[in-house]
Amino acid sequence: MAETKKLFIKTYGCQMNVYDSERMAEALGGNGYEQVGTAAEADMILLNTCHIREKAAEKIYSELGRMRELKDAKPDLKIGVAGCVAQAEGAEIMRRQPMVDLVVGPQSYHRLPQMEAKAGHGEKVLDTDFPEEDKFELLKARPKSKRGPTAFLTVQEGCDKFCAFCVVPYTRGAEVSRPVDRIISEARDLVERGVRELTLLGQNVNAYHGLGLDGHDWPLARLIWELAEIDDLKRIRFTTSHPNDMSDDLIDAHGRCEKLMPYLHLPVQSGSDRILKRMNRSHTRDSYLRVIDRIRTARPDILLSGDFIVGFPEETDADFRDTLRLIEEVGYGQAYSFKYSTRPGTPAAERGQIDDTIATERLVEIQALITRQQRAIQDAMIGKEVGVLFEKAGRMPGQMVGKSDHLHAVHVDSDTLKPGDLRRVRIIGSNTNSLSGVVL
Ligand code: 5AD
Ligand code: SF4
Repeated sequence: MAETKKLFIKTYGCQMNVYDSERMAEALGGNGYEQVGTAAEADMILLNTCHIREKAAEKIYSELGRMRELKDAKPDLKIGVAGCVAQAEGAEIMRRQPMVDLVVGPQSYHRLPQMEAKAGHGEKVLDTDFPEEDKFELLKARPKSKRGPTAFLTVQEGCDKFCAFCVVPYTRGAEVSRPVDRIISEARDLVERGVRELTLLGQNVNAYHGLGLDGHDWPLARLIWELAEIDDLKRIRFTTSHPNDMSDDLIDAHGRCEKLMPYLHLPVQSGSDRILKRMNRSHTRDSYLRVIDRIRTARPDILLSGDFIVGFPEETDADFRDTLRLIEEVGYGQAYSFKYSTRPGTPAAERGQIDDTIATERLVEIQALITRQQRAIQDAMIGKEVGVLFEKAGRMPGQMVGKSDHLHAVHVDSDTLKPGDLRRVRIIGSNTNSLSGVVL
């Protein structure tokens, strides 16, 4: 038996990267690696990267720069770059940082063990293919170890929508949905290992249509109903959704499926029809608001979350005001806003960019509105009774922290609760980023 080698993975970007990092660690487990918490003790460092905005991508090069010293001190140290920067920049990474040994794009993770073996022999290896084979099928199964009460599970990957600002269709490729039986068995396995809440992931998760148990294509709603049959699975969430794919059956599931949590991340990006058109979003402000109406009719207490881009090319002050008005109209319990970032190869990168100072001012204004709104919705939870799935001990002794049905962090005083316990809690206080409550 070969000696154990140490693997350090640093994950950037979205939840799908978090999921991918877990799967990569498992795959490299077969090559004799165990995961460690710091770069200094590692024999191999893997950066799982994000390319969504320029800042995210540039971070990787500064991180690699900082690793120079580690590599000088330990020449056998292997350094790998995975994820969306790997996909987008490929061999360019090795040109800019020759100490990088391995570059692997998201569609080639199942080939990582072979790549690692080659890197171990001193080869430089690069794989940014979009292979035909099913990577999930070929990725080594998750080991049977115990794990925490929440987990991500990728059910769909890639995007066919081509929003004018976005790199995802290029880094993650075309939309692919995993077959239902594979997802169910992965879910069962996670539940056996202690998971009580699953978040189904996809760049366009509500466009999911995978091979169903009856040989026909199943939409996301059908997959959710099937997962809800797993007894010890208590909660189901999914993210990220596109407004155009909020089908009636999915909205109905939000109304009737008790395990499907009342939270929906439904990015709109802008409240201006003119900008939505230039973004190639293929929906309008009004069609988005109508979808929200239908969802709220089915599930009145649903908490909505969104993403917004400010400073998109040609965005006028009037367009920006339209976005602020839309936020006021919807009332988001959670929202993320970003200054537009030019991404090479995307259609919007070719257009006249707006002044950065103006974009920054808009970002400050939108974030102030979002923060006010989030806080008001959070404060309105005081006095309400919610379900909380407890995850870990809080910062204070005798405290436990978990997430409410609406995904608010909630802490309570308790010496008896354990991770994985699901309890009814009365909310008694609202703080900057969390609620406090008492177990009923
Ligand atoms: N610039 C700024 N924000 C972007 N996003 C995607 N591409 C860009 C870009 N080029 C934001 C969108 C998306 C979220 C994941 O990131 O709001 O929903
Ligand atoms: Fe970033 Fe998108 Fe890649 Fe996730 S899929 S890591 S958000 S570029």
